[in-house]
Amino acid sequence: MTGDGGLTVLGIETSCDETAAAVVARDAAGKATVLSDIVLSQIEAHSAFGGVVPEIAARAHVEALDGVIEAALDDAATKLTALDAIAVTAGPGLIGGLIAGMMTAKALSAASGVRLVAVNHLEGHALTARLTSGLSFPYLLLLVSGGHTQMILVEGVGRYERWATTIDDALGEAFDKTAKLLGLPYPGGPSVEQAALAGDPTRFAFPRPLSGEARPDFSFSGLKTSVRQAATSLAPLAEADVADICASFQKTVSDTLSERVGKSLTRFRERYPDQENPVLVVAGGVAANRTLRAGLERLCGENGFTMEAPPPRLCTDNAVMIAWAGIERLTAGLAEDEDAMHMPPRSRWPLDARAAPLVGGGKRGAKA
Ligand code: KG4
Ligand code: ZN
Repeated sequence: MTGDGGLTVLGIETSCDETAAAVVARDAAGKATVLSDIVLSQIEAHSAFGGVVPEIAARAHVEALDGVIEAALDDAATKLTALDAIAVTAGPGLIGGLIAGMMTAKALSAASGVRLVAVNHLEGHALTARLTSGLSFPYLLLLVSGGHTQMILVEGVGRYERWATTIDDALGEAFDKTAKLLGLPYPGGPSVEQAALAGDPTRFAFPRPLSGEARPDFSFSGLKTSVRQAATSLAPLAEADVADICASFQKTVSDTLSERVGKSLTRFRERYPDQENPVLVVAGGVAANRTLRAGLERLCGENGFTMEAPPPRLCTDNAVMIAWAGIERLTAGLAEDEDAMHMPPRSRWPLDARAAPLVGGGKRGAKA
């Protein structure tokens, strides 16, 4: 235990296909240090199936978790009893993985007497930029991954408003499905981005779902259908066709994303007219895409916003963000109200309980 007003927390993350554990410390002055960061990806176990298989994921978490936690404690040169808390992802996500993570965390807490904090995975993503750049509230978060496509107003710890979400597929899912139907390897995002480098982004005019509509939500399933039609009509596909489809798909996604996100930037301006340097944080695996990033940076520039993206390792699923969210909750006094030891894992757990659920919400539907 730090004992000087600081906090040292172990984070555990098992909500999807990464088994992760990390130790993060925050000193009394608020300075954060990542003491360890272990992420064991299951990509290879799932790649033959072109997507995450829940049963394989759950089993792999059970097998790997003890070793991953041990490695995180070793790397941080600490031990369980020296910690102030164990923070564990309690949802949303795949239920088998969540059960594995929570059971382990509860057992460690019971055996060591170290308190348990239950963390919403989305809150982990939402607060990461405060760890990496000390960002202050309020700010906008665009979370784009295989499981989520959401625009969230982050007003404070525990104070979130979901301003937009996907009404069908998550954006990463659209990349993964496009890759799969073009015969490109999983995960699809990097494959599509790579293939697009050699392609003509103007060859195909794909539809831009919801474009021009006042509501700020996202939709990607129509785009995926058009990609399928283009691929079918050209079959067998030459390498140049694949490249052109990827480039056109990526350009369409980029334009659509910027048009949709622009709605929320305007709303933020109206809500906080006096905010001097408004920030859009972009996180999630899809945020690694250079074309999309460039489009969003341009959009931010045009609207007087600064775009911030945490380093890719902390944008994708990890346990540092869970440990950090635990620290933020403890510091804000929010962990006091809950009994994490008796909290069940929740496959669905919206950050903003007031936001109406929309149909779809991504392949792990769950992660809406
Ligand atoms: O955040 P993440 O690692 O895991 C979750 O889904 O929670 O995101 C993975 C997703 C996959 O759908 C992957 O295809 C996509 O992010 N992705 C990308 C790129 N790198 C990863 N999508 C587009 N371009 C990329 N370079
Ligand atoms: Zn995630």
